[in-house]
Amino acid sequence: MYYNWEINTSTEELKVVCNLIKNGELVIFPTETVYGIGANALSAEAVGKIFIAKGRPSDNPLIVHVAKKDDIDKIATDITEVEAKLIERFMPGPFTIILKKKKNVLPDIVTAGLDTVAVRMPNNLIAQAIITFSGVPIAAPSANISGRPSGTNISDIRRELESKVSAVIDGGNTEIGLESTVVKVVDEIPIILRPGKITPEEIKEVVGNVSIDKNVFQQVSKNEKVESPGMKHRHYAPSTKCQLIYSKDEKDQIFEINKRVRKYRGDVVVIGFTEHREQIIVSKDRYIDIGSNQKLEEVAKNIYSALRKADEFRPEIILIEGMEKCGIGIAIMNRLLRTCEYDYIEI
Ligand code: TXA
Ligand code: MG
Repeated sequence: MYYNWEINTSTEELKVVCNLIKNGELVIFPTETVYGIGANALSAEAVGKIFIAKGRPSDNPLIVHVAKKDDIDKIATDITEVEAKLIERFMPGPFTIILKKKKNVLPDIVTAGLDTVAVRMPNNLIAQAIITFSGVPIAAPSANISGRPSGTNISDIRRELESKVSAVIDGGNTEIGLESTVVKVVDEIPIILRPGKITPEEIKEVVGNVSIDKNVFQQVSKNEKVESPGMKHRHYAPSTKCQLIYSKDEKDQIFEINKRVRKYRGDVVVIGFTEHREQIIVSKDRYIDIGSNQKLEEVAKNIYSALRKADEFRPEIILIEGMEKCGIGIAIMNRLLRTCEYDYIEI
């Protein structure tokens, strides 16, 4: 079933949807980051359906969503002072923290057998209502087939997943467009396992320290042990080959892209900034504007739907403009490097 709650949430429909969750069904719902495919986190059978619907590898654990801070203690334990400070400052919000898992509450399938659990408290009102009225924690990965760009736009999601779930809740385009910042505290230092809207600088302000996992910008080598299983898997990618091109000098960046447009005799799609539209020599419809390079928040919001749109042309290659790894640019570049399977040119 499709429910449109973009303007108003209906209490009758909310009851129906929360009953679906309680009864072990899958529901797609909006959060402030990306849409999630949710299931009752207390039921192994319900959570199993998520892995099947997404085609997700079983060694990749899920984030458990709660509505209020008291609920964190029901699924996690031994919360340290640094962890408590981060929770206080960033939750609810686009932030996920890896905590020690409480025994005998969540089934192993949720956490892929790890002794930690990823916890998130969204600040989107629809997400909060669904979690609160379901009365259970909700396991929810991003709404996309495993390996594909995350769902931020309802028509992309309906096409890809509606037939595999019991309900889809439309809350409009997601506000941020990139998944939450994932942090694990090790020896009192917060380590960013996945960058997002909450930046390293903001985290450092709270606890005086921060570090970024080396696999945020680097390809994981075979058999390497990683902090977050999601780092190993192919991610955020359309089916067409993609290449990411960046230079500190805008003119050089445009020059390099144009060189490739010629090399592929125009059989390309360019995902680029508003400012460069006139200077990049592809036909108008093959230039997908992801927003201004002065407003990376806008770029974050558009990037996943731009990748899907580019893929529809089935070009030989999708060329993507890179940006400085700064602020939310860190998170965008992290996703784009994976999108391009590290086919990255920096001049
Ligand atoms: O914004 C978000 O976080 C969205 C919305 C729906 O909340 N969710 C999301 O979930 O992005 P997903 O499953 O697409 O990504 C979760 C990431 C994966 O990279 C996974 O490996 C990692 O979190 N993760 C989950 N549990 C973990 C754990 N116990 N230890 C380390 N990493 C974990
Ligand atoms: Mg995902």
